[in-house]
Amino acid sequence: LAKIEIKLAEIPEGKSVTFKWRGKPLFIRHRAADEIATEQAVPVSSLRDPQHDNDRVQRPEWLVVIGVCTHLGCVPIANAGDFGGYYCPCHGSHYDASGRIRKGPAPLNLEVPFYEFPDETTLVVG
Ligand code: FES
Repeated sequence: LAKIEIKLAEIPEGKSVTFKWRGKPLFIRHRAADEIATEQAVPVSSLRDPQHDNDRVQRPEWLVVIGVCTHLGCVPIANAGDFGGYYCPCHGSHYDASGRIRKGPAPLNLEVPFYEFPDETTLVVG
């Protein structure tokens, strides 16, 4: 299926839910205010793959990323690791709650796919 439609009400605040999209895991994370504030405050110059949080999300409360580690392709675990976002157990890559690589061997941030919000309650990826 080329596109996936997600009802945002199904994902409570603070949770990251995994969907399957084009044969890959897709992480949709409903970020809380403290998480948003933390990620927005990270100095871009401190990052391996420098991207401001604002350039990775369309709406601050929703993070949408492909759940494939940019090192060798394992599936990271949500709400784990030193930066509270995602942790890849294969070789120890730590991603933050913006999906940015912060520690470990992965070279790049988790990929943000094309997506849009057709209305207040719906997300469409693809
Ligand atoms: Fe994720 Fe190696 S595949 S750290």
